[in-house]
Amino acid sequence: MLDTRPAPHASRGARPTIRPTGRERSFAADELIVSKTDPRGVITYANDVFLRVSGYELDEVLGQPHNLVRHPEMPRAVFKLLWDTLAAKQEIFAYINNLASDGDHYWVLAHVTPSQGPDGRVVGYHSSRRKPSAAAIRRVQPVYAQLLAEERRHSGARAAAEASSRLLGDLLAEQQQSYEEFIWSIITREEH
Ligand SMILES: Cc1cc2nc3c(=O)[nH]c(=O)nc-3n(C[C@H](O)[C@H](O)[C@H](O)COP(=O)(O)O)c2cc1C
Repeated sequence: MLDTRPAPHASRGARPTIRPTGRERSFAADELIVSKTDPRGVITYANDVFLRVSGYELDEVLGQPHNLVRHPEMPRAVFKLLWDTLAAKQEIFAYINNLASDGDHYWVLAHVTPSQGPDGRVVGYHSSRRKPSAAAIRRVQPVYAQLLAEERRHSGARAAAEASSRLLGDLLAEQQQSYEEFIWSIITREEH
């Protein structure tokens, strides 16, 4: 499958690599981490909770591609699915492990939606994220670890994404579930 994600405006070349500390940080169950992007995934808005949890100032995130908070252990297949779904003008729920500016990580349950203008064209995307339960993270982690291991067997980014997307499809087929069914089977067991 083609990578439908458009290239971001801003270059990430100048950004220093952040080494993960392995420390997890969290946020309150009644808080929402919110950001908006343009159609290319460049951040145009971030709320105070986003800034506090990710450890960035507003001027450090505005104009940056959203992979600013990408954790190196997140499988590419998840982002491919996210962008393919958004390209089809559909919304998606996904569990995502994010990297804060100091290398700590924080898991979120993200709901990402396309925003359309009056003519139906996508003018940007909106993501609101809440804190997932520990049980949900435990369910998702081994699946992501399997996808990541598959990706590491391939050298090119595209080949890696395709291979792990295939594996994700196979894992879901084994359980006779669609991605939506898989995610909802976890979401419905979230403790509130
Ligand atoms: C509205 C929106 C929100 C996003 N939020 C995140 C996020 O919280 N964490 C993340 O790693 N990627 C997020 N992404 C996906 C990134 O744009 C990017 O595809 C991902 O980090 C993979 O980066 P890479 O292609 O450099 O591997 C978001 C994209 C959109 C459109």
